[in-house]
Amino acid sequence: MGKIIAIVNQKGGVGKTTTSINLSASLGVLGKKVLMIDLDPQGNATTGVGVDKRNIGSSIYEVLTMKAPIEQSIVKTKSVNLSVIPAYLNLAGVEMELIELERKYKESNNKFNRVMRLRDELSKVKDNYDYILIDCPPSLGILTTNALATADSVLIPVQCEYYALEGIMQLINTVMLAQRKVNPNLDIEGVLLTMLSVNTNLGLEVISSIKEFFKERVYDTIIPRLIKLAEAPSHGKTILDYDPRGKGTKAYLNLAKEVIERNGSKEESIG
Ligand SMILES: Nc1ncnc2c1ncn2[C@@H]1O[C@H](COP(=O)(O)OP(=O)(O)OP(=O)(O)O)[C@@H](O)[C@H]1O
Ligand SMILES: [Mg+2]
Repeated sequence: MGKIIAIVNQKGGVGKTTTSINLSASLGVLGKKVLMIDLDPQGNATTGVGVDKRNIGSSIYEVLTMKAPIEQSIVKTKSVNLSVIPAYLNLAGVEMELIELERKYKESNNKFNRVMRLRDELSKVKDNYDYILIDCPPSLGILTTNALATADSVLIPVQCEYYALEGIMQLINTVMLAQRKVNPNLDIEGVLLTMLSVNTNLGLEVISSIKEFFKERVYDTIIPRLIKLAEAPSHGKTILDYDPRGKGTKAYLNLAKEVIERNGSKEESIG
């Protein structure tokens, strides 16, 4: 059964999309069947895996608003074992539409819960994958709430910068609220330090304060700040295709191994 991991942080530009793309691709290369869901109207995860937004039949917007079945919205990428449900700008208007749909359904005494839309749809395809990664937008609105309602866990990218922990309490509170209201089993998968610059002492201070806060949840792998990681999406390539022997590929493959290891050892401890 697929493990659903939401990549969340309401703070913008911390590496959510870069991590969604390259962790998904790395898990695929390591033999896991992966579905990446682009849940950001910007659609950067979609283009980042080489899917042309102009040629999309249906996207996550159509899935959430019941205009297209989820099975028809899954697109295979050039990366091994990696499929994606794309996002397009129309996703930006989804909240109003979901409220409207919920009202209509209520009138006809049918069940419809706008917070559970992604969960209801994913339940149909979940078993076809080992991992389902959700790239969340930089807000805690209806889209992120849908991700938190369906995810088994959250992976939180944190940028190695002075204000790294700013907003983290709000994020933790939101995760705890989701646990109480809609998803009691929601767990913290891990905290990923991103964009570490080699030439500053600041990085080390930030790392120790984040480790103090999140303890063993912080991955050993730290993603360095690398031009190649920023360039790859403009070529529609994951880092594994764009710079297969480079440091970025190495870092994300290491992260994928850690993710697999953590999940493997959990399974063992359960069974
Ligand atoms: N390790 C890295 N090294 C260099 N640049 C990076 C790295 N990770 C991300 N970037 C760049 O930083 C910017 C923000 O990254 P990204 O889009 O992954 O963050 P995000 O959290 O998804 O942003 P948003 O909140 O807008 O969705 C992008 O231009 C990306 O290419
Ligand atoms: Mg993003």
